[in-house]
Amino acid sequence: MNLKIAIVTDIHHGKDAEAKKGGSALRLMADFAAFVSQEKPDLVLDLGDRISDEDPETDVILEREVNAAFEPIRAVCPVHHLCGNHDRDFLSVAQNEEILGQSLTHQILDAGGWRIVLWRADTRIQRPDGFQCPKSDIAWLANAIAEADRPLLVASHVPVSGHSQIGNYYFQRNPGSSTYPQHAELVRDVLRASKVPTLCLAGHVHWNTVTTIDGIPHLTQQSLTESFVMSPENGAGEACGAFGLLNLNAETIDWQVFGADAFRAVIPVEQTARRWYRPLAGFDDVPGHIERIERIATFQAQSKAAE
Ligand SMILES: [Fe+2]
Repeated sequence: MNLKIAIVTDIHHGKDAEAKKGGSALRLMADFAAFVSQEKPDLVLDLGDRISDEDPETDVILEREVNAAFEPIRAVCPVHHLCGNHDRDFLSVAQNEEILGQSLTHQILDAGGWRIVLWRADTRIQRPDGFQCPKSDIAWLANAIAEADRPLLVASHVPVSGHSQIGNYYFQRNPGSSTYPQHAELVRDVLRASKVPTLCLAGHVHWNTVTTIDGIPHLTQQSLTESFVMSPENGAGEACGAFGLLNLNAETIDWQVFGADAFRAVIPVEQTARRWYRPLAGFDDVPGHIERIERIATFQAQSKAAE
């Protein structure tokens, strides 16, 4: 049993910005289409932010152009789309559904011994307040996890790990926009309850990362058109052309990202089913802890006095 998934995210078709090279998007989508026809994956995931939004009329045109770039890929295998925040600034879910020709509600797909959870939680950034993950989206995910009888791949646009954004071009100074304000509840209460091997995959943050929480690897994949990772010596101003391949079987998760920001992670599946038991109490409430600290403090004071 093996499941092979090709992944593209944060295509950001549109105008070039300082770091997002949106003008390269359609050319790089042709490269991705060639990659898919060569690799013949079981399915393709598009994790959202297909466009860099401008206004309601332009965004429809941009989304239609990206949709056309997916047509040759749909001839090879099914393509499943998620919406990112830029797909939702001016457009509704219904408009994205109409353009892409598929439903964009939550969905479960069983394939190759794995269960793919397309967790299409709300990605509209409520201006000026920010992301909000509705209770209904959290409840749907909790139910999908409770009912899981096989390894789970949970795909979303917005990552839920709450991983550090230090060093991230967009989010070092805007960490609140890198995840949902409900991320702690999602990892601590919802994902932690999973009894099966579990893997999370997201886009949005434009860098390749692996963050492990409670044994669950949270992957984020680089944007197709991002350039901020490119130093001047490496050709700053060029899009990195990132797309990924995720091979899942009963033993191994093998995730590889191609392009100028290449990355690879290989993770044993059985480790992703391990959860910590209940967290330790605050240190001051652990029996004997205060006495131990006092003993060490006395020792250190005596040692200093003896110097
Ligand atoms: Fe995004």
